Amino acid sequence: MYFPGLEGVVVKETKICYIDLENSKIYYRGYDLEELARLSTFEEVTYLLWLGRLPGRRELEEFKARLAAHRLPPPHIATLAKSAPPSAEPIDVLRTAVSAMAWGEDLSDKSPEAELQRGLKITAAMPYVVAAFDRARRGQEPVHPAEAGSHAEYFLWALRGERPSPREARAMDVMLIIYAEHSMNNSAFTAVTVASTLADMYAAVTAAVASLKGPLHGGANVDAAKMIEEIGDVKKVEGWVDEQLAKGRRIPGFGHRLYKKGPDPRLRVLRELAKGLAAERGDFRWVEIAERLEDYVTAKLAAKGIYPNTDLYAAVIFRYLGLPVDVNLPTFAISRVAGWVAHVLEYRQANRLIRPTEKYVGPLGLRYTPIDARG
Ligand code: ACO
Repeated sequence: MYFPGLEGVVVKETKICYIDLENSKIYYRGYDLEELARLSTFEEVTYLLWLGRLPGRRELEEFKARLAAHRLPPPHIATLAKSAPPSAEPIDVLRTAVSAMAWGEDLSDKSPEAELQRGLKITAAMPYVVAAFDRARRGQEPVHPAEAGSHAEYFLWALRGERPSPREARAMDVMLIIYAEHSMNNSAFTAVTVASTLADMYAAVTAAVASLKGPLHGGANVDAAKMIEEIGDVKKVEGWVDEQLAKGRRIPGFGHRLYKKGPDPRLRVLRELAKGLAAERGDFRWVEIAERLEDYVTAKLAAKGIYPNTDLYAAVIFRYLGLPVDVNLPTFAISRVAGWVAHVLEYRQANRLIRPTEKYVGPLGLRYTPIDARG
């Protein structure tokens, strides 16, 4: 049997995430994602994804304190983030930093507790790395706002150097919840594939960040941001889309391997979030472009099973939050690391080396010709 793109292939049993295509719902550990986005926090959702249940008050406080204690990464990581060339892509800096976090640590203990602790250290340090690099390339010193409350507030504060408004911090928090997990996507599969060799959590997450980079996966949130920027005016949406399609190009922020019969369920939350930020700023330009894109592209391409995905509105929300366009992508990683770690921990409970096979379609029986006789 041959499954191009592994479409429809089941690689593991899971209790982490369920996507109910029929009813347009996503569940993390049995909880409706829309309810989590409304009522929960990224820290609580991360605890839920990793440990399988909602924490009690004290457990959550302890978990938040553990994360906060690791926000400032070891000196060699802080130096790496600061000294990467300004022309580097932030996602590449983050990938290298995650890999370098393994340095100097005894990695022989592969127990769930040890791997969870590594996942926690990576999760905690990612915002600082991304923010420190972004500031350094603009000639600014890194900021470590120890008094920041949530992970989301810390990230925005470290990035901008000043405290975000509660509404902005909450918008980032919701984005981190929404992006945190999405079943057996390419980067989660990559993490699990690496973990199945019994390589450590740093190796698995480094590989997952690499997978996220591609424009068919997480990189689409950068392309979507460039698209809305390039369009710039709601009146230009139709012309821009027609031109792209005429050139045979794909529209970023549209299409999904799973959602062929309707839009991504997460869009409901993100559309509202984007509108709320637009209203707060009195600037509806970007949300209007996204809504027009949504209507126009869907009308053109729904027959092919193409609907908007999360990256369309993520681009709008990140724009309202003032993120540099290329920081959209590592922001996705800052969130999705929660899902990667959960999948690695779950897979290891019944680990089996991932080693698919392939169908050979090349020639056989060729005779070796010495190089002098090849012309
Ligand atoms: N714009 C225009 N046409 C599209 C788009 C799009 N965004 N996406 C798919 N199509 C077309 C394809 O060209 C193809 O047309 P054809 O049958 O005439 O050749 C048809 O729709 C089916 O496309 P597939 O490639 O088979 O769909 P697949 O399920 O493999 O791809 C993918 C899903 C990769 C996400 C694709 O829709 C895409 O490239 N989208 C743009 C990038 C993007 O937004 N990625 C983010 C995905 S979500 C995430 O990872 C966070």
